[in-house]
Order: sequence, then C-alpha cells, then structure tokens
Amino acid sequence: MALRTIESLGSLTGKKVIVRCDLNVPLKDGAITDDGRIRASLPTLRLLMAAGARVIVISHLGRPDGVSDDRYSLAPVATRLSELLEVDVTFANDTVGTAAADATFALADGEVAVLENLRFNPGETSSSAEERNAFASVLAGFGDALVSDGFGVVHRKQASVYELAELLPSAAGTLIADELAVLDRLTASPTKPYTVVLGGSKVSDKLGVIAHLLPRVDSLLIGGGMVFTFLAAQGHRVGASLLETDQLDVVRGYLAEADRLGVKIVLPTDIVVASSFGADAEHVISPADSIEETAFGPSGLGLDIGPESAARFADIIRSSKTVFWNGPMGVFELPAFAAGTKTVAQALTEIDGLSVVGGGDSAAAVRALGFTDEQFGHISTGGGASLEFLEGALLPGLEILGWHA
Ligand code: 3PG
Repeated sequence: MALRTIESLGSLTGKKVIVRCDLNVPLKDGAITDDGRIRASLPTLRLLMAAGARVIVISHLGRPDGVSDDRYSLAPVATRLSELLEVDVTFANDTVGTAAADATFALADGEVAVLENLRFNPGETSSSAEERNAFASVLAGFGDALVSDGFGVVHRKQASVYELAELLPSAAGTLIADELAVLDRLTASPTKPYTVVLGGSKVSDKLGVIAHLLPRVDSLLIGGGMVFTFLAAQGHRVGASLLETDQLDVVRGYLAEADRLGVKIVLPTDIVVASSFGADAEHVISPADSIEETAFGPSGLGLDIGPESAARFADIIRSSKTVFWNGPMGVFELPAFAAGTKTVAQALTEIDGLSVVGGGDSAAAVRALGFTDEQFGHISTGGGASLEFLEGALLPGLEILGWHA
C-alpha cells in the first residue's frame, strides 16, 4: 500500500487540520540556533492555508518527560513560524487545555495556531498504548483530519505520531513524501559507487545501520568519536579518546564481514589529538595507530580526523555517485576540531550525483559551518528516523500512513 497523501483527504476548506510537525529545533538561551526544521515544514503549511484549512500545528521540542518546562516551550518556534509564513500565528500555552481549545475554536479558514509542546503531557510518550490513546483522543477532538509531516519523529510510536493517525482521517504531508522519495533511492537502487560516511560519538547508535548497509555500499567511511572503537578493535591504543569497550567484538565482526564482502571500511590514518577537551586545548596531528605517543601520552584524546584522512575521505566522496552522510567527523563546534567535518561537507557539495545529509545534528553542522541547503542533494530533517529507515526498519509513523517499503 502506498503512502496516503494530502489529496486523499478531499476538500479541506473550512476543515480543522491538525499538522504533526517536527519543530524540535536547537535553542540556546531561548533563541533558535538553526531553524531548518521550521523552514522544512513551510510547504505543507502553505498548501493547507491556501486550501482554506484551519491549521493546528502540533510538535514536540526536546525531552521534557511529560511535565511542563519553560525551557522546552514552543513559543519561540511559533514566533519564528509567524515570521516565515508572514502571517499572524496564534500560540496556545497548553496542548489540550482551555488555551488550546480557545485557539483552535477561533481559527478562521487559512489561519494557523501552534499548540504548546506535546511532550509536556505524559500521554504523548507513554509506554502504555491505553494512555497514548487517551491523550490522542483528546487531541483528535480539535481536528477533522491529521496531516503527519514530522519525519524526524516517525520512528517513535507516540500518541501524536501513531494513535492520532488511527483516530482521524490521516495522510502524509509533503515533507514526509519528499524525504521518502530520496531515502528510498538510497535503499532501493543507489547509483554506484555508493559511499556512506558515518560519524558522531557512539558506535552503539549506528549498529543497525552499519549491519544493514555493509552488503549494499562500496565504501563505508568512519569518523567522529566512534572511530576510536574501530581503532581499538584493530589493536591500537587510543589514549583518553571515546571508547565503547562493550562494542569491540561487534566492531571486529564488522571488519571481518567487510573483508568477506569486499567492502571498504575506511578508517582515518591520522587524528587530531588534544591535551584536553576545550576550545583552547593544545593539539597535534598524530598517526592513528600511535595516538598515545604524542607529548600528551595516554591522556591525549582524539577530537577530529586529521588532514590526510580528511583529504582521502574527500577523494572517495567526490568519486562516488551516491553519498549518505550522518554524524560529524570531530567536535565541529570548536573551530580547532572542525576541519574534518568541513572537508567532508565540502566534498559532498562537489559530487556529480546524489548527496544526502542525514540527521538533525549533521544538518545543523553543515549550516553552522557556512554551507547552504542548496549545496546538497537533500538534507534530511530526521536524525534517528533517517538512520532507522536506512536500517530497513518499518517505522510506526509511516506504517500508519500506509507506507510499506
Ligand atoms: C530528533 O531530533 O531526532 C527528533 O525530533 C526526535 O526526537 P527524539 O529523539 O527526542 O524523539
């Protein structure tokens, strides 16, 4: 069965349409530092406004664990949404209380209201289907239909993602449809050579995707904090760098499996090793197999891939026809350790083929480093969701919209 699209909902003029977005944007001191997810939500919202729908936007932000917490309020998001849509947007300071009821009741055709963070309510993320259903039923009372468009959260079986889509006539918005069109190309028939670049801190977050992708890719490039578990699995000492000792056997298994399949797992040959974690930390470039032999000894810690490795990664990326990248190569937030991530991002912008940046963090990284969305084939709004999709998992928030791979 194919994904249900907005057209399947029929005429939406005068209808109250709840739109489940993922407006989980990074905030610093109450200010939005990357509005990519808000921008990505605009096409569906504009389409519904133009159709004369009364648009009720719902989303989570952060993980407030079922209690109201000002640090996770969607108020700044509603303000930014109003600026981007260039219309007044009503903000209700509760999700299912009187403010939400008033705001949704007062909507005229084509108008937009944003309700407060879904995760201020325990029912949203409850492990009990009954509690999720109870919360979803109250939400459903506000709308005539649901447009599900929060791709970043489709891997979560949560009330607004799953149960609400059962209770109301529901369909996917254009953001989800566009994400699937691209990500499906990565799983179904990627043009070869196909390279996947994985970074970020933990191997354990990437186990499923590595296992699933190994037989499908030509090269798997590994950077970021997870690289040290690979280096240690090869018998090298890694100083005070991030290391997941409980994953060493799993990683050895991947290295053996890659050999068997003829897939290249490419590890860095040099590492930027620092005396400590900090913007001003002293640092040197060390061969990857002798990290403890710098002046910092066993207390040295690797915070980025080195220039030789970055150049090699860039060469492989540039000669690929399809590249998926998830996870920074180093601590890109600190300028001294951003070069690896920047070189990889630059190479992705230069490929003659499809480049996909997956993940909230990776997307924020490329923008923070000065790249624009247009320089890449596609920037996914989903971090965990895009990884789980590439793992081949059936995601609850897609399944409920009729999607089957
Ligand atoms: C994300 O940032 O990946 C999504 O918004 C999902 O958030 P979550 O991991 O807190 O469910």
